[in-house]
Amino acid sequence: MDKTQSASNREASEYEGKVDVLSPEDLSELLAAGTKEVHEKAENTQFVKDFLRGHIRKELFKLGAVALYYTYTAMEEEIERNKEHPLFAPLYFPQELHRHEALGRDLEYFYGPGWQSEIRCSPATRRYVDRIHQIGQEDPVLLVAHAYTRYMGDLSGGQVLKKVAQRALKLPATGEGLEFYQFEAVHSAKAFKQLYRSRMNELDLDPDTKHNVVAEAVKAFRFNMEVFDELDEMGKSIQDEVLDAGMPVHGAGGDLSK
Ligand code: HEM
Repeated sequence: MDKTQSASNREASEYEGKVDVLSPEDLSELLAAGTKEVHEKAENTQFVKDFLRGHIRKELFKLGAVALYYTYTAMEEEIERNKEHPLFAPLYFPQELHRHEALGRDLEYFYGPGWQSEIRCSPATRRYVDRIHQIGQEDPVLLVAHAYTRYMGDLSGGQVLKKVAQRALKLPATGEGLEFYQFEAVHSAKAFKQLYRSRMNELDLDPDTKHNVVAEAVKAFRFNMEVFDELDEMGKSIQDEVLDAGMPVHGAGGDLSK
């Protein structure tokens, strides 16, 4: 383990069990409150509901991984560009969070060694990716919103989603094809999220900028929902090659809480 990694885990572990004194003006609080409604909407998209019930076919799951690959490639490219920007630098945790390489390995598992020529960026993913590149170049503080929406969500739900996918798609218990969901360098997701929140709250932002970050996070959720809706549409034209892994519908989702 390298020094940065252990330092962040040490720092994160200091948050274990600690109750942060937060104010309503803290960015972490504004983001949680400002995205509450759209979070509920995202949870209720057909694609997400189907996924949680274990109703996911392999071909569609693969297309979901492709969408994530393009999204994280764009996001992490822009994060790298802005890693020294004072309004993003405190949130730069490449070892712990970055997913580009994990997704590349997942896609290689699903599509084989020629995976790069097997995949393409869908229209809804393209709109999301274009926005990420635009803000990374024109208004980097808004990257905070995109990083929050994806990484905090992934850290909240990863393990549940991984188990659902593993069971429904009969993927190996060794985790191949599901590296995206595994944050190897994060010892405690809960403690790391606390650290990330406190780093967001330390950014020197005026109220207008905080407002813009929250508005961008709502947009980021909407981009995700557009990708889910598109996947749902694509699912309708994919052959039912793996039908629910032959399982009955009822109770297939297990514990849905993150
Ligand atoms: C946090 C549930 C989908 C983004 C959470 C938390 C739960 C949850 C219970 C709180 C975790 C905690 O406080 O430690 C769910 C369920 C989903 C879902 C059941 C699907 C059915 C999504 C999606 C996104 C997302 C699609 C965005 C693409 C987030 C974010 C947080 C979060 C950013 C952090 C909130 C904060 O603390 O500020 N989710 N979620 N979630 N989720 Fe989700």
